[in-house]
Amino acid sequence: MKVTSAVLEKMGAQSPYEESKPIVIRELELDAPGRGEVLIEIKAAGLCHSDLSVINGSRPRPLPMALGHEAAGVVVETGEDVHDLQVGDHVVCIFVATCGHCAPCQEGRPALCEEGAKTNSNGTLLSGAKRLHDGNHYINHHLGVSAFSSYVVTSRNSLVKIDPSIPFEKAALFGCAVMTGVGAVVNTAKVKMGNSVAVVGLGGVGLSALLGAIAAGAREVIAVDINPSKLAFAKTLGATHVFNSRDEDVIDQIKKVTDGGVEFAFETAGAVPAMKVAYHITRRGGTTTTTGLPHPDHEFSFPQVTLTADEKVLKGSYLGSCVPSRDIPRFIELYKQGRLPVDKLLSDVIPLEKINEGFDRLTNGEVNRIVVTP
Ligand SMILES: NC(=O)c1ccc[n+]([C@@H]2O[C@H](COP(=O)([O-])OP(=O)(O)OC[C@H]3O[C@@H](n4cnc5c(N)ncnc54)[C@H](O)[C@@H]3O)[C@@H](O)[C@H]2O)c1
Ligand SMILES: [Zn+2]
Ligand SMILES: [Zn+2]
Repeated sequence: MKVTSAVLEKMGAQSPYEESKPIVIRELELDAPGRGEVLIEIKAAGLCHSDLSVINGSRPRPLPMALGHEAAGVVVETGEDVHDLQVGDHVVCIFVATCGHCAPCQEGRPALCEEGAKTNSNGTLLSGAKRLHDGNHYINHHLGVSAFSSYVVTSRNSLVKIDPSIPFEKAALFGCAVMTGVGAVVNTAKVKMGNSVAVVGLGGVGLSALLGAIAAGAREVIAVDINPSKLAFAKTLGATHVFNSRDEDVIDQIKKVTDGGVEFAFETAGAVPAMKVAYHITRRGGTTTTTGLPHPDHEFSFPQVTLTADEKVLKGSYLGSCVPSRDIPRFIELYKQGRLPVDKLLSDVIPLEKINEGFDRLTNGEVNRIVVTP
């Protein structure tokens, strides 16, 4: 079938992208779903920094690539051997498809699925196939999804069925920002009621972590960013204190207010300077967790002795260490009860044609989450 898709044609283009136009809206051919695959109509897809990192070259991927991974849609057709999804079901896309039999999958850590990681790097679906093409020229898939498209074919294992009462533009956020941010707090770091928390970097992921920390019952939730408008917004969500990490003495300021640092700090900017703040504001015996995905050449260093003498813990969190089919319905239920108001993170809904401008707005840090409706 013919579909419309946003394809990244060049990596590392100069911003503003509205002028350099690294993403081109193309009409492509989409093959029918193969065994274990599903055809989805995409209703809403969020602009995540991980898309931006492919555009600006921080996270190099094979080109041309049909971008997008944070999405919600409707099942249109199921391929052979898909028995647990029906036409008309509402689904959220997951950015790591899981094979179910590699070592991490066996250990109940699907975020680390080896097949999922390999096929994501190769720009294919879990089956190894590419389904989008222009004549004989096949287009790479972004994270097994390619969500900035009117229709996509994904692995069944890239999908979680959701409650159909949730509007698509809100449901989409659960696929990446919410799963990553809330999951980092409750699954990776395991924040408990009464803990003190700081979040450094207040984009879709960091603001979700902030909401997750509040929902988990943290007594103190400190929000840190370089953008004053993000700090003001974090206050409206319930941050107890806000700090600008452009202040040279920001670490001392936070340590003073928290009497030596927080029990749990999260780095959700994807930048080494943010990681430095997060690590140093973690108190003795505390845990620093990062969800950031900076360029592979960017290294973070710290005095090794602090890990030992202060018994600090350093953790990475991918996909919020979630089991998506377990956690997405849970997080949606909390949202429905008003205990995880992630709809507040939705800054704007724009047409697919404005996607380059949308990424300019994400680059400038002026928005939380923008969603496109392909
Ligand atoms: N681990 C995962 O599974 C996963 C999933 C999604 C996104 N990510 C990564 O998480 C990071 C955040 O993603 P996002 O979509 O929320 O990004 P975003 O662009 O929406 O937000 C980043 C925020 O960090 C702030 N920031 C930048 N430098 C800072 C600094 N030095 N100190 C404090 N704040 C700073 C920016 O002002 C912005 O508000 C990215 O690296 C992204 O690739 C990881
Ligand atoms: Zn993402
Ligand atoms: Zn696996």
